[in-house]
Amino acid sequence: MGKKLSIFVVALTLIAATSMAAEMGKFKETQFKKPSSCSGCHKEIYKEWQESMMAKSFTHAWDQAEYYKLALPHSEQLDKVAGVKAGCIGCHSPLAFLTGDIPPKPADENSRANEGVSCEICHYITGSTEKEPFNFSFVIEPGRTKYGNRKDAKSPAHKTAYSQFMRTPEFCATCHDEQSPYGAWVKSTYREWKAGPYAKEGTRCQDCHMHYSEGKSASMGKKRDDIAHHVFHGSHSKTKLKGAVDIALYANKEELRPGDKLKLKAVLFNGKVGHMIPSGSSEERMLWLEVWAIDANGKSYLLKVDKKGFPGEEYTISDPNAIEYQAMGEIMKLKDYKGLKRDGDVPAGSRIFRKPFFDPKGRMTICQWYTKDNTKVDYRIGPRETKIETYTWRIPEGVAKGELTIKANLLYSQVPSSVGKFLGLPEDEYAPILVNSGTMVVKIED
Ligand code: HEC
Ligand code: HEC
Ligand code: HEC
Ligand code: HEC
Ligand code: HEC
Repeated sequence: MGKKLSIFVVALTLIAATSMAAEMGKFKETQFKKPSSCSGCHKEIYKEWQESMMAKSFTHAWDQAEYYKLALPHSEQLDKVAGVKAGCIGCHSPLAFLTGDIPPKPADENSRANEGVSCEICHYITGSTEKEPFNFSFVIEPGRTKYGNRKDAKSPAHKTAYSQFMRTPEFCATCHDEQSPYGAWVKSTYREWKAGPYAKEGTRCQDCHMHYSEGKSASMGKKRDDIAHHVFHGSHSKTKLKGAVDIALYANKEELRPGDKLKLKAVLFNGKVGHMIPSGSSEERMLWLEVWAIDANGKSYLLKVDKKGFPGEEYTISDPNAIEYQAMGEIMKLKDYKGLKRDGDVPAGSRIFRKPFFDPKGRMTICQWYTKDNTKVDYRIGPRETKIETYTWRIPEGVAKGELTIKANLLYSQVPSSVGKFLGLPEDEYAPILVNSGTMVVKIED
C-alpha cells in the first residue's frame, strides 16, 4: 500500500516537472528538434508548413521591422510595455522564448529563432492555463511523445499520443488572441469565432485552415482518408481571400440623364470567413470598397459613399488629409515627423471596413502593444453578416451618352501603404489585393 502510494507521488511530481505553462527560459534548445528532422518521413506536411506563415512568423520582413524598429526599442523606453520584448517572441518564435533567447538575433543571423511556430512547438502543446486562451498561455510538454489527432498512430521515430486539446479552437486561441499591456483585446479571432454562427455549428478553425484528404501523413504511416494538411492559408493567401466576401449591386434607375440622381446600393456578404474580416492584426488591416463609374468614352468618376452617421464613422471613410501613426516617430526618435496618411492610398470617400486602434494619447496607431482602446468603432464584416453601402451621385453634364459602367472593387491590404513605404517593407506586404468585384451597366440618354 505504502509503496504504491509513493510511486503515485513520484509519478505526479514527474508530470509536474515536465508539463509546464509557457515560461521564459524554462527549457533547453536540445529539447526541440528542428523541423527539417521531420521532413524525411512527413514530407508533404513539412512542405506545407514551410510555405505557411507559421514557418515565417519570425523571419518575414514585416515581423522583423515591427519588432526590431518599433517594439524592441519601445520596450526599453517605456516601463508599461517592457514585457513585449519577450512577449512578441512568445508567439512569433516560441522556441526562442521558451529557451530564454530574448531578444533573439535578427533573422539574417540565422539562429534557431528563425524556426518560427515549428512542428515541435505545436505537437508538444497539451493545454492552456486559461479556459478561453490568449497571450501564449499554452502548457507545453517537450519529450519523446508527439501529441496528435490519432489514437492509433505508431511511429518508429517517436512516441505518439492522442490530444483532444489540439483538435479544439482553444488550441489556436493560445496564440491568436492577445491582450495589450493596457488591457485592450488587440487580437480576438477566437473570441469573434466563438460569438458567431460557426462555433454554434461546431465548425472549428482547423476545418477551414487545415484541409483534410486521403493519403498518408508519413512515408511509413497508414493510408487514411482524412489526413490533416498544414497549409494554414489566411489573408496572406490571395486564393483564400478571393471571393471571401460576395458583392451585389443595385441601381434605382436603368436610364438616366445628366442632372439625374443615380442611387446605388452595394450589398456585401461575408459567407466564408469564420470570424470578422479583417481579423487577426486588425490594427493594420484594411478592407475597402472603391466604386467607379466609367462612361462610354472611358472617363472614370469616383463615387463617394453615403454617410450613415454612426459614432466613429469618420475612421471608416477614406480621408487623404487624415494624418495619424505619430507614435512610430516618437519611438524611432525622428525629428520633424508629424505622422503618416491614415488611409494610405485608398481613394477619398471610399468605405473602409476596419477597427481602428488608439494609443494612450488618443491617436490612431498600428502599434498593437501600445493600444489603450480599440472599442470606439468596429466596422468590420462579421461571419455571415451583410453590410449595405449606398451611393448618391448626380450625373454630371459632360458624361458621354451610351453605356455607363459601374464597377465596385473590394480590396484588402495587410498594412496601410503609407506605413509600408515609411518602414521600407517589400511592396507585396502592402499592395492591394482584390477580394471581389461587381459590375453593372446603366444607360445615359440626352
Ligand atoms: C522515421 C520516420 C519519422 C520521423 C523522422 C518522424 N515521424 Fe512523426 N510519425 C511517423 C509515423 C509512421 C507516424 C504515424 C502515422 C500514422 O499512423 O498515420 C507518425 C506520427 C506523427 C504524429 C501524429 C501523432 C498522433 O497521435 O496523431 C505527429 C504529431 C508526428 N508524427 C510528429 C513528428 C515530428 C514533429 C517529427 C520531427 C521532430 C516527426 N514526427 C518525425 C514517422 C516519423
Ligand atoms: C500551428 C500548430 C501546428 C504546427 C506548427 C504543426 N502542426 Fe501538425 N498538426 C496540428 C494540428 C492542430 C493537427 C490535428 C488537426 C486535427 O485534429 O484536425 C496536426 C496533425 C499532424 C499530424 C497528423 C496528421 C493526420 O491527420 O494523421 C502529423 C503527422 C503532424 N501534424 C506533423 C507535423 C509536422 C511534421 C510539422 C512540422 C513540419 C507540424 N505538424 C506542424 C498543428 C500543427
Ligand atoms: C504557438 C503559437 C500559435 C498557435 C498554437 C497557432 N498559431 Fe496560427 N499563427 C501564429 C503566428 C505567430 C502567426 C503569424 C505569422 C505572421 O504573419 O507573422 C500565425 C499565422 C496563422 C495564419 C496565417 C494568417 C495570415 O494572415 O495569412 C493562420 C491561417 C493561422 N495562423 C491559423 C491557425 C490555426 C487554425 C491554429 C490552430 C490549429 C493556429 N493558427 C495555431 C501562431 C500560432
Ligand atoms: C468558416 C471558415 C473559417 C473558420 C471557422 C475560421 N476561419 Fe480563419 N479565415 C477564413 C477565411 C476564408 C479567411 C480569409 C479572409 C480573411 O483574411 O479574413 C480567414 C482568415 C484568417 C486569418 C487572417 C486574418 C487577417 O485578416 O489577417 C487568421 C489569423 C485566421 N483566419 C485564424 C482563424 C482562427 C484562429 C480560427 C478559429 C478561432 C479561424 N480562423 C476560424 C475562414 C475561417
Ligand atoms: C498572443 C500571440 C502574439 C503576440 C503576443 C504577438 N503576436 Fe504578432 N501576431 C500573432 C498572430 C497570431 C498574427 C497573425 C494574425 C493575422 O494574420 O492577422 C500576428 C501578426 C503579426 C504581424 C503581422 C504580420 C503580417 O505579415 O501581416 C506583425 C508585424 C506582428 N504580429 C508583430 C508582433 C510584435 C512586434 C509583437 C510584440 C509587440 C507581437 N506581434 C505580439 C500573434 C502574436
